[in-house]
Amino acid sequence: MSELTLAIIKPDAVKKHVIGDIISHYEKVGLQPVAIRMMHLSKSAAQGFYAVHKARPFFDSLTTFMSSGPVVVLVLSGENAIKKHRDLMGATDPAKADKGTLRALYGTNIEYNAVHGSDGPDTAQFEIGYFFPGMDLVTR
Ligand code: CMP
Repeated sequence: MSELTLAIIKPDAVKKHVIGDIISHYEKVGLQPVAIRMMHLSKSAAQGFYAVHKARPFFDSLTTFMSSGPVVVLVLSGENAIKKHRDLMGATDPAKADKGTLRALYGTNIEYNAVHGSDGPDTAQFEIGYFFPGMDLVTR
């Protein structure tokens, strides 16, 4: 089943100049970009996006990091895109991520972990709507 998921290339990965490498990985596994925005999130935009984590001890540090520099936000389309993307990213902690996954390749630590991906259909719908409100997304 073709579905959509939201990806973010985080400020640490943008600073490492690996935007192109990461997008190549998406395309190689059949995750087609159907929308792309480069933006510098305000702290409050990061807080709104990660609202589900607001009770977590790392919330303030996470939202400071996510608003520390530009990010690239993408909608990816493909067969089982949500799971396929999570498999490609690897575990949240780059030290525990399988070899060859995006976080193992480009992440630094559990917070500066290079990429974000929606973790389920409801989250994908919220996250896509957060950055691409009202957009008529193309399915490729
Ligand atoms: P992400 O998949 O974007 O979802 C929430 C983010 O919070 C996660 O990636 C990490 O960047 C960050 N995160 C998760 N767990 C921790 C933790 N234990 N300490 C610091 N940051 C974390």
